[in-house]
Amino acid sequence: MLKPNKLVSKNFLSSLDTSSEEVYHLLEIAKNFKNKDLDIKFKDKVLGLIFDKSSTRTRVSFQVAMSRLGGTSIDLNPTTSQIGRGEPIKDTARVLSKYCDLLAIRTFNQSDLEEYAKWSSIPVINALTDFEHPCQALADFMTIKEEFTNLENVVLTYIGDGNNVANSLILCGALLEVEVRIACPLGFEPNPLIIEKANKIYKKNKNLLKIINDPLSAVIGANVLYTDVWSSMGEESKKEEKDVLFRGFTIDNDLLRKANEDAIVLHCLPAYRNKEITDEVIESKNSRIFEQAENRLHAQQALLSCLLC
Ligand code: CP
Ligand code: NVA
Repeated sequence: MLKPNKLVSKNFLSSLDTSSEEVYHLLEIAKNFKNKDLDIKFKDKVLGLIFDKSSTRTRVSFQVAMSRLGGTSIDLNPTTSQIGRGEPIKDTARVLSKYCDLLAIRTFNQSDLEEYAKWSSIPVINALTDFEHPCQALADFMTIKEEFTNLENVVLTYIGDGNNVANSLILCGALLEVEVRIACPLGFEPNPLIIEKANKIYKKNKNLLKIINDPLSAVIGANVLYTDVWSSMGEESKKEEKDVLFRGFTIDNDLLRKANEDAIVLHCLPAYRNKEITDEVIESKNSRIFEQAENRLHAQQALLSCLLC
């Protein structure tokens, strides 16, 4: 029977905290959990959740995953704990390390997440920062692999903001040697550091990462179309301006028809229907958006088991 192997890195702060072999292993473990071929328990283990931003999928799927593993979770609401009062991260992290076995943290700055990791003696998981969303990328590639089995010739086109979700897709895509095209309006390209890191990972300088400003050319030959909101959490004041700048970057039926016939459509959710993606496309036969959301649970159960074992 397949068993979870411990990850080399103590923490999962970035997609780059795993090697490509480890990502494949996580996806395999996740598949086994999904198919109910794997049943391992981490009785009495406790996951602490610190969410400085709202969440439905990440929070609930972590709690359910922990429960399926025989453990439990505590939702440390910053407004009712001393976190919201501004207790220093180095104090909170050391105290929580005495009670919990893992922490999953959703916050704004990647540097705050790193500060938690620095002062925690237990593994820290990135449950989304402004910079990355690595748990999302695991579920995304699990969904893509379910569809195409072999990732070798998959072309993933992400249309929209070069944000946290795009950054983790790029890094995880590079680890898996997948061609990733990012089509974004001028000025909304992913972070240059992410691009540089990804280009170093691809073997033999294959140039499989493409940053394009034209969505039409980016979808030709694509197997996966992916989008996310144009304005992320924390960018509420930019919403009106970005809605104008992102015109023409909506995944609609016209754009979908230009991709491969068997192309699937993904969105990490929550979506603004008829902004970055039309209602019709979300509900179309090409959409795997709700399978993708389900896979958050299995991918995170795999991640937790590979951090706890
Ligand atoms: N995709 C995602 O992270 O969703 P939530 O914000 O609901 O957790
Ligand atoms: N980019 C979005 C993702 C939400 C899951 C945000 O950060 O708000």
